[in-house]
Amino acid sequence: MDFKHQPVMLSEAIEYLAANHGRRFIDGTVGAGGHSRLLLERLPECEVLGIDRDSEALQAATANLAQFGRRFQARQGRFAQMQNYAAALGWQRVDGVLLDLGVSSHQIDAPERGFSFRFDGPLDMRMDRSETRTAADLLNTLAESELVDILFRYGEERKARSIAREIVRRRSERPWTNTTELAELLNRVVGRAHQHGLPPATRTFQALRIALNQELEELQAGLQAALALTCPGARIVVISFHSLEDRIVKHFFRTEACSCICPPGVPECRCGKVQTLRVLTGKPLQATEEELALNSRSGCAKLRAAERL
Ligand SMILES: C[S@@+](CC[C@H](N)C(=O)[O-])C[C@H]1O[C@@H](n2cnc3c(N)ncnc32)[C@H](O)[C@@H]1O
Repeated sequence: MDFKHQPVMLSEAIEYLAANHGRRFIDGTVGAGGHSRLLLERLPECEVLGIDRDSEALQAATANLAQFGRRFQARQGRFAQMQNYAAALGWQRVDGVLLDLGVSSHQIDAPERGFSFRFDGPLDMRMDRSETRTAADLLNTLAESELVDILFRYGEERKARSIAREIVRRRSERPWTNTTELAELLNRVVGRAHQHGLPPATRTFQALRIALNQELEELQAGLQAALALTCPGARIVVISFHSLEDRIVKHFFRTEACSCICPPGVPECRCGKVQTLRVLTGKPLQATEEELALNSRSGCAKLRAAERL
């Protein structure tokens, strides 16, 4: 298997993670292992637990990082399993957690995974292929109103209603199976106007992927797990690829960085809120012009980092 992924904002992420010269790290989205590799090289004493939902990614990371021996351990799973995997290694606390969200180039570029409207393939989109429900199942079984909701919420798609109507009409003739059929419908219904240069299928494919893999719920679980696992001084670094993800990270960091959430005007604090994080990136970092020229995927990346108190 040829598994390719060029890590985004690689040196920036590792600068933040490695700053405290920690010993134990969790890469919650190990992918092909690009970020983990630089961390293992930068801190020769450290160990990394690499987690990914995708067994193909784990195989690639295991092969790519074999030279580090027991310093790198790979486990298949979701963010929600991070604490169990850490505990199984006897790790009560870690010195940093990285979440480099979304899909890898490998997932996008493999037609049989069904993530991209650029290739013909099955409407699959599962990050973890041992799960049973696919994107085709969503299109073939959800109520029209549920499809509208998914397209609005996760794709911010203005034509959600017309798209959902067409999806439901077409499936009464024959079920949805392929990416190109869906892309053709979107080209017709969405068109090129008001797309800011994006292909018409972009928002719907994004929305289906996020819904199917429950990516936003996962992100909340990942941030909570990172908070629970990190020791004082540890770093949490998150790279997001669209505004829905970045909003969740920004809000989580802001809430954890404040020490009182009492309503304004209350004479004395009663909320009992404890500040757990110090935000290190007021504004999120974005890829440099040099990186953008080399890797177009970095164009929408935003990196936020925080330190555990
Ligand atoms: C952008 S890639 C990471 C690339 C990696 N940093 C590298 O350098 O190769 C994102 C990876 O996170 C995985 N992933 C996404 N959501 C996940 C989740 N909730 N739990 C575990 N892995 C997840 C995907 O399967 C994908 O392999």
